Amino acid sequence: MPSIFITRPIPSDGLEMLKKQPNLEIDIYEKDEVIPREVLLKRVQGVDIILSILTDQIDAEVMDSAGPQLKLIANYAVGFNNINTEEAKKRGILVTNTPDDSVSLTVAEHTIALMLALSHRIVETDKFTRAGKYENWGPQLLLGTDMRGKTVGIIGAGRIGTAVAQHLHFGFDMKIIYNNHHQDSEFEEKFSATFKTKEDLLKESDFVTLHIPLLPETKHFISREELALMKKTAFLINTSRGAIVDEKALLQALNDKKIAGAGLDVYECEPLIDCDPNDNLELINLENVVLTPHTASATLETRQAMSRRAAQNILDFLKNGQPKDII
Ligand code: DGY
Repeated sequence: MPSIFITRPIPSDGLEMLKKQPNLEIDIYEKDEVIPREVLLKRVQGVDIILSILTDQIDAEVMDSAGPQLKLIANYAVGFNNINTEEAKKRGILVTNTPDDSVSLTVAEHTIALMLALSHRIVETDKFTRAGKYENWGPQLLLGTDMRGKTVGIIGAGRIGTAVAQHLHFGFDMKIIYNNHHQDSEFEEKFSATFKTKEDLLKESDFVTLHIPLLPETKHFISREELALMKKTAFLINTSRGAIVDEKALLQALNDKKIAGAGLDVYECEPLIDCDPNDNLELINLENVVLTPHTASATLETRQAMSRRAAQNILDFLKNGQPKDII
C-alpha cells in the first residue's frame, strides 16, 4: 500500500480527498508548527510520497532518509525553492506545486493592498489616529499619493504578474510596463503594456512589483545598483520571495530615502524580518515600510484551493503517475 507523509496539517479539503482514497496510508505531523528537522528525517523513512510545505527543506538528506521508493514530493505552495529539484530529478522523483488561479488572484490582491497601504499611508495614519494625534482636519495633513494614472513596473509576467496587471490597468488606470524572460504580445495587447529592460523599468516606474520565482539566477535581482536606478518617489513591492531583493541594500536605500518606501510580504532570512538583527538598521524601525508575515495567499478560500490542488496532484499520481503540476 502506498504511503504519504504530510509535514504539517493543511486546510481540510485536501486532507478529506486523501482520506477518501482507498489503500493510502496517511501519516500527518500532528502539530501546527514547522516540523523539527530530526523528526522530518525520521517520519519520511520508507514513504512513497511527501506532502511538504514551504518551510521544509527537502534536500538530498531528506530524500536519502526517505529511501528509493520515494516517488513524489507534492509541495503545498506555488514557490518551490525549498526543494532541491535537481536532486529530485536525478533520483526520478516528481515534484509538484499548487499554481491554482486562486493563488494568483489572492496574491495579486495582497500586492495591491500593499501598494494602497503605502500610497495612502494606511498603517502610518492608523497609528497616528490611535495615538490620539488627530486634532483637526488639515489641508496638508499626512498627504499620500495617487495610484491612478501612475506607472507600475511589473517584473515577471506570469500568472501573478498578469493578475496584478489586470487589476491595475482596468481598476486603477495605471500605465503598465513590464520585464519578463520573454516578450509577451498577449500581455501587451490586453493591458496596453510595454516591454522594458530591467534598467528602464526601474527608472520609469512609480511602483515596482516583483513576481518572479527565486532561482539561483534571480537571487538579489534587486540590489544596490538597481535600487539606485529607481525614482526617489517610487515604491518597491515584494510578494514573491525575500532573497530576490538584497535586504541589506534595501535597508540602506530606505534609510537614505533613495526610494519612497517598500511593501514586503517576504524576507531574505525568513522568518527573521532582518537577516542581521544586530545591525543598526532594522526594517521594523523604518516608517516607510509596510510589512506582512508571508500572508499574501492567506485567505481561507485560497488556502483550501491549494489544499485541494496538492491532494489532486497526489491522487493523479496514484492513478496514472501523471500529476498536473509537475515542476
Ligand atoms: C506560495 O504559494 O509560494 C506562497 O508564497 C505561499 O502561499
